[in-house]
Amino acid sequence: MKKFISLVVSFAIMALSNSFAQNYAITPEPNLVEVREGSVDISKGLSLYIDSSVEDVARLESGAALLGVDLKRVKRPARRCGLNLYIVDRAEIGGAAAYDNFDEGYELSVCSSGSVDIKATTAAGLYYGLQSLRQMLKGGATLPICYICDAPRFEYRGVLIDISRHFRSVDFLKRQIDIMAELKMNRLHLHLTDAAGWRIEVESYPRLCSYAAWRTPATWKEWWYGERGYVEQGTEGAYGGYLTKEDAKELVEYAAARYITIIPEIEMPGHSDEVIAAYPELACSHNPERQGDLCIGKEATFEMMQAVLDEIIEVFPSEYIHIGGDEATKSSWKDCEDCQRRMREEGLQSVDELQSYMIHRIEEYLNAKGRQIIGWDEILEGGLAPNATVMSWRGEEGGLAAAAAGHKVVMSPHGYCYIDAPQDAPPMQPEAIGGYLPLEKVYSYDPAPESMADSVREYILGVQGNLWAEFIPTDEHYEMMLWPRAIAIAEIGWSELKERDYDDFRARAVAIVEDMMSRGYNPFDLRNEIGERPESLQPIEHKALGKSVEYLYPSRYYGPQYAAAGDATLTDGLRGTWTYADGRWQGFLRGGVDVIIDMGEVTHIESIAADFMQYCGPGVFMPCLVEIAVSEDGENYTKIADIEHEVVVEDVPSFKSFGWSGAVDARYIRYKAHRSRYSGFLFVDEIVVR
Ligand code: ACM
Ligand code: ZN
Repeated sequence: MKKFISLVVSFAIMALSNSFAQNYAITPEPNLVEVREGSVDISKGLSLYIDSSVEDVARLESGAALLGVDLKRVKRPARRCGLNLYIVDRAEIGGAAAYDNFDEGYELSVCSSGSVDIKATTAAGLYYGLQSLRQMLKGGATLPICYICDAPRFEYRGVLIDISRHFRSVDFLKRQIDIMAELKMNRLHLHLTDAAGWRIEVESYPRLCSYAAWRTPATWKEWWYGERGYVEQGTEGAYGGYLTKEDAKELVEYAAARYITIIPEIEMPGHSDEVIAAYPELACSHNPERQGDLCIGKEATFEMMQAVLDEIIEVFPSEYIHIGGDEATKSSWKDCEDCQRRMREEGLQSVDELQSYMIHRIEEYLNAKGRQIIGWDEILEGGLAPNATVMSWRGEEGGLAAAAAGHKVVMSPHGYCYIDAPQDAPPMQPEAIGGYLPLEKVYSYDPAPESMADSVREYILGVQGNLWAEFIPTDEHYEMMLWPRAIAIAEIGWSELKERDYDDFRARAVAIVEDMMSRGYNPFDLRNEIGERPESLQPIEHKALGKSVEYLYPSRYYGPQYAAAGDATLTDGLRGTWTYADGRWQGFLRGGVDVIIDMGEVTHIESIAADFMQYCGPGVFMPCLVEIAVSEDGENYTKIADIEHEVVVEDVPSFKSFGWSGAVDARYIRYKAHRSRYSGFLFVDEIVVR
């Protein structure tokens, strides 16, 4: 009987929880929700009490104002119809004991008396409690009686917005900050400087803004593949811009009011073409043209970077200053007199150590001013600066190595967190950097999986999604790339892994997308998502399945990095996904594809076809000609198809079938695809015979 009662109770709790999830969805998903029987109606409004120990009451008042409920400030907490915000000691929050770090946590109780109490140890925690309440109220003015005790899994939950490749306005950035705050994200990494344009006012080096912030071709592609020049501010047709210090301060304050810290990134020593264009004396001696790496041999480089950083830290109060550190080519340093002298004098054995010398010096400079550096994982090369935090982007290896050495790490591996890749069927999406990164894959990322040693895990600060803007000229397009994938980053950063259920998350993301659209945002409309390439979802049956394939010279030199399943690939029944590096597409260089399928016996055949893909950026093209021939004896072939195709360079990827249909009896099929004048790769996944 006792068992029966407890079963009934647990079913009742389950039913309550399901109804909570459906009617009061909160994203990121809270880590503990207990729903009780009953609800309270707050449509008549609430009194608002804010604990006197809260320093910045205005921030919380603004947060509460977004609830869409009539509020009246009162001096004492109300037991009925009151929204009461308290700062308390951690020990006073029952559920807090379950969390290692409760600094941003909150406890939210909707009581049967009709009051809503939020308790936290910090104002940020109270703000996040208000955000949860705001989301619960989307369903109407009735709240379930419940208890939520919630805190983030990671202390760093961020996105990178790239305003170098295309400048974005303060208003645009504020609008993104609004959504980030609603999702309890707390770091906005602004990529302020890069070859395509310098975007922050610096008074001591004025040409960074009067020259290096402007170019004439508006699209990045035209500029990058053209002269890659800059123009004086005010030149007719000049495209670009920069944040004035006033703009930046306004933005910093706006973000801080929403408990978001802006981390400015000043790239060095690579990705600095625009700096060198404005101040050519900072280039290595032999070739000031088209250089992206600052000369580390010259003291002038340090004088400049330090002066710039002085101005940056005056505007951005963040603990972290991002100093870039990625993708320096390091080539000009090898034969620059100044760099070589520096290496001799400092006893540096390699150009990696030369870069490391610079990062160490900059770290020391910033540390002395009370700031910390964070940099891309290349700053590990040549020796990591002693207090540096690493942002791991080329994968997780850099981050893991840094964490193992006792450095803090933000995980941002490109395979999961580079949301500049298309999020849906690439042929249907606007031009983007390659790949395919749907919401589900972003959501599947775990920055600190179970398998990670505790000694490493403790250094994982959190996670960041990066949205580079090379191919994103407009604000609308940028929003479409950012949302909803940044919602997944928010939830990965906040919710404990055990709660992860993609279908549930997706349903909540759709609701957020709909809400954003109703507010004039332009998120990707998840409701219309096509998803992974339909052909790839299930193995297919066809007459050549499992038949042996002979690769004729030189096509037997497929791959080797795109060998897929080797000689079995083209008849293994597995169709490729949207990306060529999936182990299903086989990549051919040299002579293209030239293979013979042996059907084992003379077979009646009515169609033969294979799909190819084209991604011009990385050099993957359609064939210009496909020839298909058949034979009964393997000696005498009859050509049955000659399919010509005009290969055209296009911005978006495409997929196309090259095949024949008719009726023929044959044992051997020769399928030959020729590369076009663009050379590059041919990729094919399966030769389907029916
Ligand atoms: C990077 O994507 N180069 C950090
Ligand atoms: Zn040099």
